[in-house]
Amino acid sequence: MEALLSVWYGRHGRDLPWRTTRDPYAILVSEVMAQQTQVERVVPRWERWLERWPTADALAAASPGEVITEWQGLGYNRRALNLHRAAQHIAAHGWPDDLTELPGVGRYTADAVACFAFGRDVLPEDVNVRRVTDRTGATFSPAAAQALMDLGATVCLARIPRCGICPLAEGCPSRGRRYEPLRKQGPLEGSFRQRRAQALRAVVAGEQPSDEEAVTALARDGLVHVRDGLVSLPSAP
Ligand code: ADE
Repeated sequence: MEALLSVWYGRHGRDLPWRTTRDPYAILVSEVMAQQTQVERVVPRWERWLERWPTADALAAASPGEVITEWQGLGYNRRALNLHRAAQHIAAHGWPDDLTELPGVGRYTADAVACFAFGRDVLPEDVNVRRVTDRTGATFSPAAAQALMDLGATVCLARIPRCGICPLAEGCPSRGRRYEPLRKQGPLEGSFRQRRAQALRAVVAGEQPSDEEAVTALARDGLVHVRDGLVSLPSAP
């Protein structure tokens, strides 16, 4: 299966800029950005980010407010703060052996950086990779990671897989199956998240948000400071 996948990847793999670097910082940024955001939208933001802060040292020296402002539109603003804290950890202590010691870095992100930057023998399993391995029942080496991500994102789709164009269809026990839609995020979960995002956008724009509950949640996570009733972006690096 892996040989077929490799041929397909050579022809149909996506041309993503972080695939041509082995810089662990650049790869960490790409993986954190891509966690909840489509890769097409990540590419220009990743390029701009690396121009502004080309190294972990550079990012570590920024203020959290600058980092939050640059992150706007990528969603899940706490990821920006965690990335900033991770950069400060790296600037102070270097890269840890166990990458999950970095703030915001879980199993998947740690494995992705280990595989793509440090060449370690681990297969990072995101939802796309897991779907392909579950459906095919095949095992793949870490060298197939990028190809598995692309196959899962463009062919082996969650609900209606495009088996007609899949390079692995012939040997796939799940060929032709359809899948029920997964439960969508509940309306309340979505709306509080939106309120938080809206309140933070107001602060970034230099305005005072009126949603106190959202501000309390943002302050608890360190995304804003509240002093004498005035809400601002956190300023000390
Ligand atoms: N999503 C997360 N990481 C990715 C990568 N390295 N390539 C493509 N999609 C991804």
